[in-house]
Amino acid sequence: MKFKSLLLSLLPLVGSVYSQVAAPYVDSGNGFVFDGVTDPVHSVTYGIVLPQASTSTEFIGEFVAPNEAQWIGLALGGAMIGNLLLVAWPNGNKIVSSPRYATGYTLPAAYAGPTITQLPSSSVNSTHWKFVFRCQNCTAWNGGSIDPSGTGVFAWAFSNVAVDDPSDPNSSFAEHTDFGFFGINFPDAQSSNYQNYLAGNAGTPPPTSVPSGPSSTTTTTGPTATATPFDYIVVGAGPGGLVTADRLSEAGKKVLLLERGGPSTAETGGTYDATWAKSANLTKFDVPGLFETLFTDTNPFWWCKDTNFFAGCLLGGGTSVNGALYWYPNSRDFSTASGWPSSWSNHQPFTDKLKQRLPSTDHPSADGQRYLEQSATVVQQLLSGQGYSQITINDNPDSKDHVFGFSAFDFLNGQRAGPVATYFETALARKNFVYKDNVLVTQVIRNGSTILGVRTNDNTLGPDGIVPLNPNGRVILSGGSFGTPRILFQSGIGPTDMLQTVQSNAQAAANLPPQSEWIDLPVGQSVSDNPSINLVFTHPSIDAYDNWADVWSNPRPADAQQYLQSRSGVLAGASPKLNFWRAYGGSDGITRYAQGTVRPGAASVNTSVAYNASEIFTITLYLSNGIQSRGRIGVDAALNAKALVNPWLTNSVDKTVLLQALHDVTSTMKNVPGLTMITPDNTMTLEQYVAAYDPATMCSNHWVGAAKMGTSSSTAVVDENAKVFNTDNLFIVDASIIPSLPIGNPQGVLMSAAEQAVSRILALAGGP
Ligand SMILES: Cc1cc2nc3c(=O)[nH]c(=O)nc-3n(C[C@H](O)[C@H](O)[C@H](O)COP(=O)(O)OP(=O)(O)OC[C@H]3O[C@@H](n4cnc5c(N)ncnc54)[C@H](O)[C@@H]3O)c2cc1C
Ligand SMILES: *[C@@H]1O[C@H](CO)[C@@H](O)[C@H](O)[C@H]1NC(C)=O
Ligand SMILES: *[C@@H]1O[C@H](CO)[C@@H](O)[C@H](O)[C@H]1NC(C)=O
Ligand SMILES: *[C@@H]1O[C@H](CO)[C@@H](O)[C@H](O)[C@H]1NC(C)=O
Ligand SMILES: *[C@@H]1O[C@H](CO)[C@@H](O)[C@H](O)[C@H]1NC(C)=O
Ligand SMILES: *[C@@H]1O[C@H](CO)[C@@H](O)[C@H](O)[C@H]1NC(C)=O
Ligand SMILES: *[C@@H]1O[C@H](CO)[C@@H](O)[C@H](O)[C@H]1NC(C)=O
Ligand SMILES: *[C@@H]1O[C@H](CO)[C@@H](O)[C@H](O)[C@H]1NC(C)=O
Repeated sequence: MKFKSLLLSLLPLVGSVYSQVAAPYVDSGNGFVFDGVTDPVHSVTYGIVLPQASTSTEFIGEFVAPNEAQWIGLALGGAMIGNLLLVAWPNGNKIVSSPRYATGYTLPAAYAGPTITQLPSSSVNSTHWKFVFRCQNCTAWNGGSIDPSGTGVFAWAFSNVAVDDPSDPNSSFAEHTDFGFFGINFPDAQSSNYQNYLAGNAGTPPPTSVPSGPSSTTTTTGPTATATPFDYIVVGAGPGGLVTADRLSEAGKKVLLLERGGPSTAETGGTYDATWAKSANLTKFDVPGLFETLFTDTNPFWWCKDTNFFAGCLLGGGTSVNGALYWYPNSRDFSTASGWPSSWSNHQPFTDKLKQRLPSTDHPSADGQRYLEQSATVVQQLLSGQGYSQITINDNPDSKDHVFGFSAFDFLNGQRAGPVATYFETALARKNFVYKDNVLVTQVIRNGSTILGVRTNDNTLGPDGIVPLNPNGRVILSGGSFGTPRILFQSGIGPTDMLQTVQSNAQAAANLPPQSEWIDLPVGQSVSDNPSINLVFTHPSIDAYDNWADVWSNPRPADAQQYLQSRSGVLAGASPKLNFWRAYGGSDGITRYAQGTVRPGAASVNTSVAYNASEIFTITLYLSNGIQSRGRIGVDAALNAKALVNPWLTNSVDKTVLLQALHDVTSTMKNVPGLTMITPDNTMTLEQYVAAYDPATMCSNHWVGAAKMGTSSSTAVVDENAKVFNTDNLFIVDASIIPSLPIGNPQGVLMSAAEQAVSRILALAGGP
């Protein structure tokens, strides 16, 4: 399910892997030695230098930006919320700067405390502006600080849209147009010349080894070891990778599962506990009721750091951070009409295997009761006037027209479960299964069509971090819709323009196979994601649960106690309460499905009417199976994954059907006394609302199709055995092989597809 646009919310704590790490460089203009990076996409340099005194609370910073940069920002704690933000822009020949602070994903407010003083080597010329500044009282702020003896993460923000009033340091401005981040080791940024820099001179010349421009480096850990070969190397511990690795190890194969992130739930070693849940060792990822706080945390280390969409980079991938809505597949989901090869139509044996390992529940509280159901009751009343009937959704997976039912989840015993609590646990118990976390795979090593192993950032796994395969061994990519394309591109597999982009990145280019060995496949093309629109309502019966704002730090005491005692109550469930579906025939003859998800609270309210915030709830309406809109996923020169073409509502019939569905859902509002729609309010039509909707907030995080399955290498990336075309032993098992959107949220379809894929891989001749 979706919440809001990403903004800087995904920026991490110190983790294992950054696409860029600060390195020393000399600014040739003033001779100062900074520690910093140049972002390879916008060519903006960000640098910092600290005094040596550990008691100091200041630093000197610089931004060197081409004039396309209308404003530049730096978040000192690596996330937008709850960190000191430094923003600067040119105004004529001058540079204007402003300390800011954000408590939500809105325009950061001016922040009193830090003193920013421009230093004389700042300049504006015909091509660039350079801001060199002293920042005093800048190493600690409300809720955070820099540790001069430790490491940290900085986030940068870039915009090519000017601030509203460049002369005013307190000017408003629109959301950045791009962002990224880099790791920094603060001791590397300390300089004995600091006082000289303040006085405007470079002091003692730096050692000659310091380069004259920042460069990026990769972190490698530990001593080089002899590599152990494996039968199967699975890359990525999301749902695709976990189902696959478990079944391969069950078959006796020697399996290595590599995951770039760290632990999630307590059972896996996770320790990110709410204070109130510490006595039970329950992390944010364990407690279903903490789901909404994943999007409002000041320290969201779990989001992948190199894409501007929400993606989980931790054990479990998306299943550790998602809404856990879980639908058994519908026969349409695997039909040829949905783009699958005809040999895939019979999903039932594989879905049965999945259900046996991971059953769904529509009453997640361990006491079997349902809690906080008011929004479900209101929407039942609304839909009953539209010819809908109530079903137990997963008892009737093929019934998806004019039906509603209680939301179903892959929680077990009142806790988040998913493939981590099931498939992963059985795999871990086997001697022939090895799991390594905090390991980033950059590419597969190949000789023409034969994969020899994978390259990682971990030198303890083998020389240069390379892990080899046993004879006839195989690699399975399960890095998700953004992670898998990135690995393929760096392996010389994908459209030429993307491989050329990798070639433009000096570090990645060094390991890219020669052009004569490139394999041209439509990786990243024809992706889809549900366009989704939020409607926000009020009704006097609703308990909006304080919009989930207090569940992390200060939950309702009785609810916290009930949860700790018996894994029951409101906190045993995530926010969604009811789901509904309806089928629509489009004017192009294609049937499309609309899905609704109902929950108390709202991601945002924009209304001109007075309303009671304790009584809000949201219906998110998604357009799903049958949509024709497609987009494209790719990477930029920093190898950050992006939507090169947005996939939402590019097809006009899709848009017409979505509007029809919005009209239908709201058509019987008068039948429900007390029900008021506040966003959009009565000053706006649904057409105007959809037209004004920011495309990025239509995202549902349900991306499929980036390496889709098919029968031809001109239109698909993997064949019916999930093997990458034109390779001998490279496979993909994750959401990217799904040719088009399922009827419901995708994880159920994905795990059934993974069961089917791994059984075909095991059956395919020529393996280990
Ligand atoms: C916020 C959010 C809410 C969602 N809500 C729902 C929902 O309620 N119901 C539902 O059905 N679906 C939901 N989804 C979608 C669902 O979670 C995804 O479809 C699913 O997780 C995709 O699984 P995957 O295996 O393809 O990839 P992912 O889950 O993305 O897993 C990929 C894994 O690979 C790792 N990885 C990536 N690259 C590398 C690399 N180079 N080296 C090593 N490891 C790597 C990642 O760290 C990650 O752990 C949601 C998604 C998000 C982001
Ligand atoms: C330093 O900044 C903080 C806010 O981060 C402020 O509360 C404090 O008063 C400032 N100290 C000085 C000496 O200005
Ligand atoms: C403009 O400023 C940039 C950044 O300081 C510098 O690299 C460049 O050489 C300058 N160009 C001219 C024409 O002075
Ligand atoms: C900017 O806003 C801050 C905080 O409200 C205020 O203290 C400061 O005077 C403002 N600066 C200007 C130039 O208006
Ligand atoms: C929580 O973890 C700690 C440290 O591992 C352990 O000592 C304690 O027994 C655990 N508590 C529970 C309730 O599992
Ligand atoms: C690469 O493959 C070719 C034949 O396809 C073979 O001759 C050569 O030895 C292989 N190289 C390596 C390093 O395996
Ligand atoms: C809020 O709604 C108004 C119209 O009622 C619209 O002009 C404005 O752009 C909306 N703001 C946001 C942030 O969506
Ligand atoms: C808002 O709604 C809550 C819950 O229904 C109610 O207790 C409260 O009195 C309402 N506030 C106002 C100002 O009407």
